[in-house]
Amino acid sequence: MRYYLTTAIDYVNSRPHLGTAYEKITADVIARYKRLAGLQTHFLMGNDEHSQNVYKRAAERGLDPRVYCDQMEQEFRLVWRQLDISFDDFIRTTEPRHKAAVQKLAQRCFDKGDIYEGYYEGWYCVSCEAFKQAKDLVDGKCPLHPALAPEWIREKNYFFRLSEYREPLLRHFRQHPEFLQPDVRRNEMLRLLEGGLEDISMSRAGQLWGIPLPFAPDNVVYVWFDALINYAAAVGYGTDEERFAAWWPADLHIVGKDITRFHTVVWPAMLMSAGLALPKQVFGHGWVNFGGQRMSKSAGTSLDPSDVAQRFGPDPLRLYLVKEISYGGDGDFTWERYEERYNVDLANNLGNLVSRLVAMAEKYRGGRLSPGGGSGRLAEVAAASLARYRASMDRFALHEGATAAFHLVDAANEFIAETAPWTLARDPAKADVLDRALFDVAEAIRVAAVLLLPVMPSSCAEILRRVGDRTPAGALRLDRDARWRADGMREVMKSPPLWPRAEDGGPEGPPLRPPRVGADRQVGPKETSVTDKPIGGAGEPAAPGATQAVGAGATPAEDTGLRDTFRPGSPEPSAEAARISIDDFMKVDLRVARVLGAEAVPKSKKLLKLTIDTGADQRTIVAGIADAYQPDQLVGRTIVVVANLKPAKLMGVESNGMVLAASPDGGAPTLVGFDQAIPPGTRVR
Ligand code: MSP
Repeated sequence: MRYYLTTAIDYVNSRPHLGTAYEKITADVIARYKRLAGLQTHFLMGNDEHSQNVYKRAAERGLDPRVYCDQMEQEFRLVWRQLDISFDDFIRTTEPRHKAAVQKLAQRCFDKGDIYEGYYEGWYCVSCEAFKQAKDLVDGKCPLHPALAPEWIREKNYFFRLSEYREPLLRHFRQHPEFLQPDVRRNEMLRLLEGGLEDISMSRAGQLWGIPLPFAPDNVVYVWFDALINYAAAVGYGTDEERFAAWWPADLHIVGKDITRFHTVVWPAMLMSAGLALPKQVFGHGWVNFGGQRMSKSAGTSLDPSDVAQRFGPDPLRLYLVKEISYGGDGDFTWERYEERYNVDLANNLGNLVSRLVAMAEKYRGGRLSPGGGSGRLAEVAAASLARYRASMDRFALHEGATAAFHLVDAANEFIAETAPWTLARDPAKADVLDRALFDVAEAIRVAAVLLLPVMPSSCAEILRRVGDRTPAGALRLDRDARWRADGMREVMKSPPLWPRAEDGGPEGPPLRPPRVGADRQVGPKETSVTDKPIGGAGEPAAPGATQAVGAGATPAEDTGLRDTFRPGSPEPSAEAARISIDDFMKVDLRVARVLGAEAVPKSKKLLKLTIDTGADQRTIVAGIADAYQPDQLVGRTIVVVANLKPAKLMGVESNGMVLAASPDGGAPTLVGFDQAIPPGTRVR
């Protein structure tokens, strides 16, 4: 069975913020859940590039809009990799496949008689990229974008006969109550439809940035009419009809509540006009605010998801957004609440459970657990959690799905408190009872990790490894692997705590890998291993002998002892796919630098703060090399740094670049150096 799901495609006039990231994370959880449920899943994301704001932003930077969009694509892809988003395809609206689809669909609507020429006179909000009626404005401003006054435009446009589709749309809504979820959005759209529909402009005049109308090439397609077609374009509409027939209609469009009208009124009408099937379902999620305020760059209330993922790693962020916000409603992020939930759910609860089980298994059974015969209380809780989890996930109650899994975690913690294995261990006559208790806890953890795999993919793969399940994550199936198993011996793995408490610094060091500049790889299900996600803040394990950048964006895996522990199940991408061009490489500004000063970073065992002379400036960088170098050994030393890296805060210290070091598996880092004197500022390539 196939499942095709999509997210909204993002405007690229600025980087993703936590709100846009929320959508991608929740969609990723659904995609991973569907894969776990055994469906052949196709998960599409992409960028919406033909916006006037994008064009303006490129002009402000003195860039050709295409070049600007190429750069933004890399920024977006990097953020999605950092958050472990496993999309299968990433579409850009400037791609030829998209243009072909837009022109074909527009032509079809035109041929059907649904497009006609006229004049539009009225308000236009450039930030929404939407025509507005006076009743949509509050004090003459767009309520979503009060900082930017709407424009009054009067231009010759082509119009799409949306009004003709009111009845068919109402019928569709009534016949398919599942078409738009949650119900609050459905009711909102039903009210809108009942109130009547007006025709909409589907072209813009006098603009160069966009796709020309096939029947009037002096006009470009209106950016929303253009963008919506991405969902059909990506699976072959206009370029590969066989593929299109195999994947269309989409099973699910995941979009924010502000754009459900475009997806459940305009888009279905366009599809009806073109004679194409409608998507089976649209889910309109709510907003994530920051400290109670709408995220807005201009108001300073925007939060960069990379910064948040840097605090504890991507998985705690994913869990927070999924478990703390009832999916469909609005939610809020504050740093305080985030730390609190991290401590409660991960450090104290799940992380502690895994550590205790592994420690007891080591101590009392040499790390080998055998089934104790028969299934007890925990098996029942696991079955109930699985049932609740499935029912919740199937209706997109993601928060309830995560809660159901945590119910099993709670039960396992209570079970340990009640059975007190440390007491059982003192009585040889109770050896069987102890065997069974330990095995049952290991099994409860295993089932919980399978259930939480879509939410915290790399952490759960690691937990499964620790409790002796070696099945590659990509091969796990809900039906088979989320059921209680009282089979065979389990060998548990002792490893450092997954999630140290926040006040102890959390997982030390940044969890994010340095940007893979130019590594234009997709992170699809076959490629989950390229994710930048170690729970403990460790980067992807370096190949033996590899040179790794150590500093902002990368920390040696020894920081948490998790080196080599994150090998998500799916195969690595091919070496060919991972190759980059010389141009890509040249984007990394490697420079010789001299260390002027070095000191330990307070409360960190691994990090050193270095003051360096790069030839062009003096700056601070933070490097995870304290276990290999004393600060005074470093002063005066010549090193190599990545000089054009964005700043990042590590343990409260801002780092402006990173040091290159060879980081052998399991060994301490060794700084890259030269066999003769080279002045600071010299480029390394
Ligand atoms: N380009 C259009 C979508 C075209 S889809 C054919 C667009 N782009 S956007 O970049 O403004 O928004 C992308 C998605 O992020 C939308 O679904 C939007 O609702 C969502 N969000 C934007 N801010 C958000 C929050 N603060 N919280 C949650 N989702 C948010 O609209």
